[in-house]
Amino acid sequence: MLSDTVFEAINDAKINMDHVYDQPDPRAYSRELKKLGYAIPGAAKPVFQKLIAHLRRRQGDPIHVLDLGCSYGVNAALLKHNLSMPTLYEHWSQSALLAASPRAVAACDRKFFDNLDEHENISVTGLDQAQSAVAYGVAAGLLDRGLAVNLETGALPNTATESLTMVSLVTSTGCVGYLTEKSFEKLLPSITQGRSPWIANFVLRMFPFDAIAKTMRRWGYVTEKLQGQTFLQRRFATPEEQEDVIHKLRHHGINPTGKESEGQLLAEFYLSRPAHEVAAAPIDKLLAV
Ligand SMILES: C[S@@+](CC[C@H](N)C(=O)[O-])C[C@H]1O[C@@H](n2cnc3c(N)ncnc32)[C@H](O)[C@@H]1O
Repeated sequence: MLSDTVFEAINDAKINMDHVYDQPDPRAYSRELKKLGYAIPGAAKPVFQKLIAHLRRRQGDPIHVLDLGCSYGVNAALLKHNLSMPTLYEHWSQSALLAASPRAVAACDRKFFDNLDEHENISVTGLDQAQSAVAYGVAAGLLDRGLAVNLETGALPNTATESLTMVSLVTSTGCVGYLTEKSFEKLLPSITQGRSPWIANFVLRMFPFDAIAKTMRRWGYVTEKLQGQTFLQRRFATPEEQEDVIHKLRHHGINPTGKESEGQLLAEFYLSRPAHEVAAAPIDKLLAV
């Protein structure tokens, strides 16, 4: 069975958040995800920072990042600036912004982010099917470039290829499951024309990563999973969601005891790199320093 069919069936277990993914500003997204304790961008941040530090030692600044399923630029906000998820939630729920127009929110956020000290000298291209979210990310200065495309159904625009050859690190949080090997298949010819970037995905435990890893193998990539560590994505929204997810996990032979059974959706970390780089420094060694 193709991954999109498998992933669709797994996605049915999760509550649907589509209504907040493509708004003209992040207030509704922030409000709904805060309620669920959505935390994966914050949990992923230290791992991404380590990868960026390694890449910087090798090739200097700025590091070009491609964030898949970037939404409003949340990963970019955390990585470029010294921000956490609670600070972002607080910022986007402040009373001064409650009645503001989306345009005013983007303008206010541009000032807010511009006035923060730059934490990491990175340049971020954000890819997401949500056009309005990507447009906000660019307007607020979180994304240096936006690619509003759905590679599950459409092609990569020719105009995107040039900027993608500069990418050194591909990131994603909360996105694999919506994205399958189809999207990676369309990105790999462009991103491997340049630096053969490291590809770093945080993936819910219920989504098998093997089809994506197999696709990347055809471009000489080896995928490693960080063993023995899970990362908090969010709380379950309802007992029914928890029950459905646990059922799906068991169906895929994954034991939820002491993990999802405790009430939280958990992700694992997969890093895909050119084979010779994996041989030189396996994932646990790379992330230990
Ligand atoms: C759970 S959100 C994660 C957003 C962000 N990475 C984060 O962790 O805050 C999932 C994102 O995937 C995007 N998405 C869903 N299907 C997609 C597709 N086929 N192509 C690109 N993005 C997609 C949604 O628009 C949404 O922004």
